[in-house]
Amino acid sequence: MEIKKIAVLGAGQMGNGIAQVCARAGYEVKMRDIDQKFIDKGMAIIKKNLERGLKKERITQEEIDETLGRIEGILDLKEAVKDADLVIEAIPEMVKLKLDTWKEVDEAAPKHAILASNTSSISITQMAAATDRPNLFIGMHFFNPVPVMGLVEIIKGQATDDSTVKVIEDVSSKIGKDTVLVNEAPGFAVNRLLVPALNEAVYVIQEGIATVEDMDKAIKMGLNWPMGPLTLADFVGLDTMLYISDYFVDEFKDSKYRAPALLRKMVRAGWLGRKSGKGFYDYSGEKPVPNRF
Ligand code: CAA
Repeated sequence: MEIKKIAVLGAGQMGNGIAQVCARAGYEVKMRDIDQKFIDKGMAIIKKNLERGLKKERITQEEIDETLGRIEGILDLKEAVKDADLVIEAIPEMVKLKLDTWKEVDEAAPKHAILASNTSSISITQMAAATDRPNLFIGMHFFNPVPVMGLVEIIKGQATDDSTVKVIEDVSSKIGKDTVLVNEAPGFAVNRLLVPALNEAVYVIQEGIATVEDMDKAIKMGLNWPMGPLTLADFVGLDTMLYISDYFVDEFKDSKYRAPALLRKMVRAGWLGRKSGKGFYDYSGEKPVPNRF
């Protein structure tokens, strides 16, 4: 099956990145969100990211215009998916919201369309079961920042067909990403490791073992990570980290995944990391300044 038209649900951090890489690869993209202001913001970020490449002479103005011309911002969900060959969902990580959205998409999208979720932890099988096409349902997990990170983690649900996997491997390759194929499990492979590791860094702060800047410096220089774990936690979003940790505890019935109290407290205070301007660092000035705990 050849994919030509892609609907991306959600114009946020992940959705606009996914829309960008798909349009850059030549796909016709409809980027859907629930409010025009989210669509406008997503389009502005795509434009800015493409223009970064202009300065480095990796893309021409003509290619930027063509790429932007292939993305249509849209509010109506049914309109967005009605002629899509592939629907990629990147909406907030709320189980009920996802299930309701997938039911609606399933009714409106062509029968042949593949449905892919960019969820970072929620069960692919559970979402697939909300549709009448679980064989065409799959996980397509991107990493932030999407235009830069080279991986798509493909997740096979209980009923996902091998032919669906093959199509998604081909699309991933066409948009310049390498893939790994994993079976469904909470957090799949990457977040199974990442979230406990970042939580452990938060425990180090909570227990007063190191300062925020020293913990980040230690892991950046000692393990050669591109970002320290607390910078990365702020980048991922502390609410997302907390959500995934709680989900792990529920799903695995194992307290070893429990979130540090400090993380929960910060989320309750609205300190969500970079997106809220405050987390382990304060982002209100020119450069991030580490907070004291
Ligand atoms: N969007 C697009 N491009 C970006 C970008 C963004 N938000 N941020 C940086 N870039 C580009 C820059 O233009 C630059 O491009 P060139 O090399 O071609 O010049 C390149 O990325 C490197 O950027 P910088 O030199 O400014 O900074 P850096 O070397 O520190 O790299 C980084 C930035 C790529 C983000 C790097 O720090 C990194 O890889 N960090 C770790 C990111 C990570 O782990 N992501 C996964 C998070 S987990 C997740 O997403 C999944 C989940 O479910 C939670």
